[in-house]
Amino acid sequence: MTDKPLRVGMIGCGEWGRWHMDVMPHLPELRVRGYADINEAAAQSFLRKYGGDYATTDPQHVFDDPDIDFVMICTWHNTHRPLTVAAAAAGKHIFLEKPMALTLADCRAIGETVARAGVQMVLGYKFRFAPYVLRAREFLPRPLLTVGQIMDLRWADEGWFQDPVIGGGNVLSQGCHIFDLVCYLHGREPVRVAAAGGALTHPGNPLVDTLAASITFADGSIASAVAADAGPAPFTSKFFAQTFGIQKSATLSARCQSLTTADDGKVETCTINDLDDAGRASPEGMVQQLREFARCLRAGKPSAISVGPREGFRATALALAAIEAARTGQPQVVPKL
Ligand SMILES: NC(=O)c1ccc[n+]([C@@H]2O[C@H](COP(=O)([O-])OP(=O)(O)OC[C@H]3O[C@@H](n4cnc5c(N)ncnc54)[C@H](O)[C@@H]3O)[C@@H](O)[C@H]2O)c1
Repeated sequence: MTDKPLRVGMIGCGEWGRWHMDVMPHLPELRVRGYADINEAAAQSFLRKYGGDYATTDPQHVFDDPDIDFVMICTWHNTHRPLTVAAAAAGKHIFLEKPMALTLADCRAIGETVARAGVQMVLGYKFRFAPYVLRAREFLPRPLLTVGQIMDLRWADEGWFQDPVIGGGNVLSQGCHIFDLVCYLHGREPVRVAAAGGALTHPGNPLVDTLAASITFADGSIASAVAADAGPAPFTSKFFAQTFGIQKSATLSARCQSLTTADDGKVETCTINDLDDAGRASPEGMVQQLREFARCLRAGKPSAISVGPREGFRATALALAAIEAARTGQPQVVPKL
């Protein structure tokens, strides 16, 4: 690969695509060339606002473009499989937004296609790159117990994200962040999950929207994970995690933009103001995850930090197993890729 900026195709010009585009000025190693969205006005508005060479309603046009190095897929969850498979078949490297897909069959198909095509794929689990998540891991590399929480404001009843076939609801869509985070903090495979939950914030919708899960890892360490949209959560914040060792803890709050460590009575808190310029510009890892992907593409090697197909499968598998445990009242074994 050349030293020139990598050329990007953006698939899905909606809310989250915009967040990605807004951090592009921090990434001189990337240049967005083409935009695709089934909504033509959305693709055209990205082209006008952010610059580039073209906008299209056909993602295949971007996949077939020889001047695109990798694509970013930021679309509805039921489209993740067909779009990823088509991109990989065209030989494109892929940055896919979370969750990997809505079903394990779809996740497996994505994993197999990507492996067969020999392309690199990472998923948008940005918190792995949040400076304080990395520091918490260094401080407590082998926690015994973690409490993790994603607590959003109540989601609108309408919208693709609440549709079981298109979005899968908040526990899968956002819960996957906390499921990945607890796995990352423990550095071990989750083997079993028990859970309670139900349709408590959206009665009448068949989806489980409120979940409290207990996870056991391969080394016997445990985590408790809550995923719901019953917020606000002013004290813990939307994304929160606290890991414990013996006489030691690390607490991530303010959406993982603050870290409090406690070591046998010595307590220290760092906030966003204590980060360097790069950290302050991207305290949740948005910029760092794309920089790492660019670095890995140039090196031709997968990342040791990013979520690849195996960990992407695992986050979805853990969310789905927890939902199944809540529905049946039976603990579930966490499936592996
Ligand atoms: N990593 C994070 O923290 C984070 C946060 C929010 C959203 N997301 C993820 O980003 C993705 C997009 O979410 P969003 O909030 O931007 O949704 P959105 O509805 O705002 O935008 C999605 C866009 O995709 C387009 N689209 C749908 N199907 C398409 C297809 N087949 N081909 C081309 N375009 C298509 C839609 O027209 C829409 O413009 C989801 O996977 C979501 O879970 C990630």
